[in-house]
Amino acid sequence: MTDTAPSADLPAALRERAAALDAADPLAHYRDRFVPSEGLVAYLDGNSLGRPLAATRERLASFVDGPWAARLIRSWDEGWMDAPTELGDTLGRVALGAAPGQTVVADSTTVLLYKLARAAVDARPGRTVIVADTENFPTDRFVLQGIAAERGLELRWITPDAEAGVTADEVAAAVGPDTALVLLSHVAFKSGYIADLPAITRVVHDAGALVLWDLCHSAGSVPLDLDADGVDIAVGCTYKYLNGGPGSPAFAYLAAGLQAEVRQPVQGWMGAADPFAMGPQYEPAVGIRQLISGTPPVIGMLPMRDMLALIEEAGMPAVREKSLALTAFAIELADEHLPGVRVASPRDPEHRGSHVMLDHPDFKRVVAQSWERGVIPDFRPPQGLRVGLSPLSTSFTELAEGLWLIRSLLP
Ligand SMILES: Cc1ncc(COP(=O)(O)O)c(C=O)c1O
Repeated sequence: MTDTAPSADLPAALRERAAALDAADPLAHYRDRFVPSEGLVAYLDGNSLGRPLAATRERLASFVDGPWAARLIRSWDEGWMDAPTELGDTLGRVALGAAPGQTVVADSTTVLLYKLARAAVDARPGRTVIVADTENFPTDRFVLQGIAAERGLELRWITPDAEAGVTADEVAAAVGPDTALVLLSHVAFKSGYIADLPAITRVVHDAGALVLWDLCHSAGSVPLDLDADGVDIAVGCTYKYLNGGPGSPAFAYLAAGLQAEVRQPVQGWMGAADPFAMGPQYEPAVGIRQLISGTPPVIGMLPMRDMLALIEEAGMPAVREKSLALTAFAIELADEHLPGVRVASPRDPEHRGSHVMLDHPDFKRVVAQSWERGVIPDFRPPQGLRVGLSPLSTSFTELAEGLWLIRSLLP
């Protein structure tokens, strides 16, 4: 990428160290596949909105001329109808560890969380408790509050260490024979903590409940093995590490073994067994297609195809390795060069996702000023600066430039 202007201020030793890390990075060349952004010094928010790939520009243009203009409505029979499950299978293979027939691309994360959480509690009749944690993303908590009110259920909250995340012991203490569902994020949106997904899934199953994992901050950055780990349900977004673009549709995974048992509540014609029968009564489609409600967002599914191809080419293990090297470098820079700043993310790589939360009372002002200077992290209240490190589009030099600029804005 040609957009990152080298800063004259970065000390020579640091510049050399970052350059050496870039030189040793086998994935460094992937950065050139992204569209440059004018005036950008460092993009540290790929965990909020991933950057566009150059290939996506061509894909979008040729979609207008081809399937849309040339084929018009015939395209529904030539791929569009199957896009939610065909793309879901690709996503499952590349990033989720999911065999075909269990992943669908549709709706938004919020809507899929509602559909799947409602379906899950209805699949455990007689159980009256949903377990969740106070540090989860607002939409997850709000959706559960709505479902609890709608179904007359109790919400039981785990309050984890805010700078870490929910542990298997905390889940074990919260679940019991009354529990229908446990909803957790795999990677915590603030601290970046990776929950022990296999262990927690086992604990939930031992209590006879279902588990729903929010994978927003893991899909495309942390390897997942949903089938092998016995996950029941998962939901995630595609505009972060999957670079699907603003408002790109979300995905849901529903384990094959549960598909006959679980019934989602938003019964639309596109998830019906025969959408074009247009009959009087809803009959759900068999398999993963039943999770669809209305017309699939076909255009919104285009950009993520390019990123999935890139991730498949690089391989998830290599993506994870680079992510760990980037977050380790961010922590090293914060420790050594950002006075008064505290690292509020796990230092143990095993428990660290692809972003690092830094803590300082002045970060609200600092983030606003850094945006004006082309360094783009994000702010999370009360005083967190979140450094998101999308492995295929971020360089070590860019990270060093960005945090050095942050340093200059600190008191
Ligand atoms: C953990 C988590 N869940 C859900 C969402 C967002 O849901 P939606 O895509 O419906 O806006 C986010 C967005 O950042 C998130 O971090």
